Amino acid sequence: MKNDENLGYRVLVTMYLNKICSVVLKINFDNALLLVKEGVEMKIAITGKGGVGKTLTSAMLISIFQKEGHSVLAVDADPDSSLASSLGFHNPNDILPIVNMKGLIGERTGTKPGDARAFFKLNPYVSDIPDEFSVQHNGIKLIAMGGFKEEAGGCFCSENAFLKTLLRHLLTKRDEVVVLDMEPGIEHLSRGTADAVNVLLIVVDAGKSSLETARKIQKFATDIGLKCIKVIGNRVRNEEDKNLITEAVSPIEVLGFIPDSEEVRAADIKGESVMGVDKKVEEEFLKIKESILRQIDRCN
Ligand SMILES: Nc1ncnc2c1ncn2[C@@H]1O[C@H](COP(=O)(O)OP(=O)(O)OP(=O)(O)O)[C@@H](O)[C@H]1O
Ligand SMILES: [Mg+2]
Repeated sequence: MKNDENLGYRVLVTMYLNKICSVVLKINFDNALLLVKEGVEMKIAITGKGGVGKTLTSAMLISIFQKEGHSVLAVDADPDSSLASSLGFHNPNDILPIVNMKGLIGERTGTKPGDARAFFKLNPYVSDIPDEFSVQHNGIKLIAMGGFKEEAGGCFCSENAFLKTLLRHLLTKRDEVVVLDMEPGIEHLSRGTADAVNVLLIVVDAGKSSLETARKIQKFATDIGLKCIKVIGNRVRNEEDKNLITEAVSPIEVLGFIPDSEEVRAADIKGESVMGVDKKVEEEFLKIKESILRQIDRCN
């Protein structure tokens, strides 16, 4: 009888310990999931026709990822840059684009200002650029790359070698969310870097030329091996705009439709940040962010 009681007691203790263990394991597992979620590593490139809403899209996604606790690197890869001002950076015009840092580029590529030498390092050291030469505001790090130089006669200059190396580094070596606000085209991506882009977002509106540009970009992107290409419809006024965009870009998936917003326009005219000025715009971008996170598994 005594042995039976002992056995029953031991079974109860074992069950109790098992329960505690499973709760502890669950807590740890949940924490691990949280860490994975917080440490998301993703490279998002945003392009589309001029004036279509690339910078609005970049700024909204950057700000959403940052607010959710992700580490974010914003890259203004458009020479006509306005990402810093859309993100509310102070004195955005004082930010010196990397391409204008002549001394730095000269030192890293082995050239001097005004030096017409034909030889320079094609793979200069750039690993310190994101941390040492970025500017920070509200927890967001931003690099203004500036534009690639025109290359007459197919020549390749040291500034372009530097920017190309930097772009490759940002896409392949950084372990945070990197959002590239690009020029209307994606010519500066190549077969070597396309692989590292988790998702290319082409922003369009219901206008014929932006849809035409989207098709050209999609063709080029597919040719260089970019696997995950999605569309965002911007300045959408009604169902007709939505249908027009969906049909025109088919079979590319449209991740979301951003409404045409008086508040966004007004903020832009005043040169103010577009963050939080329109709830509907923000809600749609939140949904788009969720679909982007789902793309990591589906496309790559
Ligand atoms: N959904 C919207 N509703 C109202 N205005 C918008 C919307 N999206 C963008 N805009 C306005 O359209 C203009 C162009 O937007 P934005 O700068 O984001 O485009 P872009 O593609 O980055 O342009 P660029 O090619 O010149 O870099 C801005 O004045 C912006 O405020
Ligand atoms: Mg822009």
